[in-house]
Amino acid sequence: MREQLAPVNGGQRWKLGEVGSAAARAAVLAEPAAGALAPHLDGVLAYQQGASSSCAAEPEASERPPLIRMASNENAFGPSASVLAAVSRAFGQINRYPDAEGRRLREALANHLGVQVENLVVDSGSEAILASVFRGILRDGDEVVTCRGTFAGVRVLVATRGVPCREVPLRGYAFDLERLLDAVGPRTKLMYVANPNNPTGTWRGAADLQRFVQHLPKRVLFVLDEAYAEYVCDTGILPGDLRAYPNVLRLRSFSKAYGLAGLRIGYGIGDAALVAMLRTIKLPFEPNQLAHAAGVAALADTEHLQMVVSATVAGRGRLISGMRALGLEALPSQTNFVMAAMRSPAAAAELCRAVARRGIQIRQLAQFGLPDCVRVTVGLPDENERFLVAVAEALTASDDAGESA
Ligand SMILES: Cc1ncc(COP(=O)(O)O)c(C=O)c1O
Repeated sequence: MREQLAPVNGGQRWKLGEVGSAAARAAVLAEPAAGALAPHLDGVLAYQQGASSSCAAEPEASERPPLIRMASNENAFGPSASVLAAVSRAFGQINRYPDAEGRRLREALANHLGVQVENLVVDSGSEAILASVFRGILRDGDEVVTCRGTFAGVRVLVATRGVPCREVPLRGYAFDLERLLDAVGPRTKLMYVANPNNPTGTWRGAADLQRFVQHLPKRVLFVLDEAYAEYVCDTGILPGDLRAYPNVLRLRSFSKAYGLAGLRIGYGIGDAALVAMLRTIKLPFEPNQLAHAAGVAALADTEHLQMVVSATVAGRGRLISGMRALGLEALPSQTNFVMAAMRSPAAAAELCRAVARRGIQIRQLAQFGLPDCVRVTVGLPDENERFLVAVAEALTASDDAGESA
């Protein structure tokens, strides 16, 4: 699994000129960077962003703007005008530290979600909260359980914390909740489930999740990652009230439907004691001043959210039907992306390269443990059409060359 990922710092040693202080320079001279890491971090593999090397446009194509970004599950529609206005007002305050309690944003979220402020933690992206969980809750010897074929950030956190992780295979590209329960052992401390799942777009219903939580030992923290919750149309997917379960932490993000990936805002909903612990160990002034303002304004602009969600759901439907019409095995999705299973890793890589040559970035899913699959993020309507044309051309070209998808 590791050989599919790039080594930290792209395998390069840091160059002297990039390092700030004299002490740091001396450390670099004395030791190669990797040698300075704690032993369990040696060889940790960094998260690869967006277009992986196998999907990147070839050199001559990279000179052809504009590149259509459909590789990172970003929101092509962007934030609302009221959010941009709130951020520009907040610019006047960037000489001040933000409220370490994040009170305004937590209050707005509490109103929005019908929970108490005490049940909420906000941070620089939901992944930052996940990182706090790994840092604050896992002790040496504890174990994580999840499925192979989920959000790649989890693997990076597992590796950097240096704990073992049991990975159960997906079933039908969805989280196999039954096998996850079977995999829980005496050392299991953390269970991670993404619902809907990235990169597959699949989901498990609310009743399944309720049953799962009931059977999960209370000593295991259940992290239910709902980064794509706003895109969910099937009301049976997200369980309602999990307040009866103090071992459940739900993670949500402003990076997707709210279009604020670049500002980094996420939040966690859970038992007050658990959340208080997470608020204690997080870095106090995150998220930043602009993010707080943007988050509050984004929650208030329900019209914009509805526009984004309905346009994304329409685009998702168009991509699924268009890809299927071209013979691709596109899975149903409750997110802002669509996954397709190809016949082989080579076919998946070739499709990514072929659409990249036509100026569109999508993603081969080797880093997620699914090398024979590709994932495309819903774009603007015109981008979705251009993607489908690019796929059609790519498949025709590979047929002409006697290859198979
Ligand atoms: C399932 C899942 N969880 C968490 C994240 C990270 O979200 P954030 O930008 O809020 O850190 C992502 C990002 O793609 C994701 O797909």
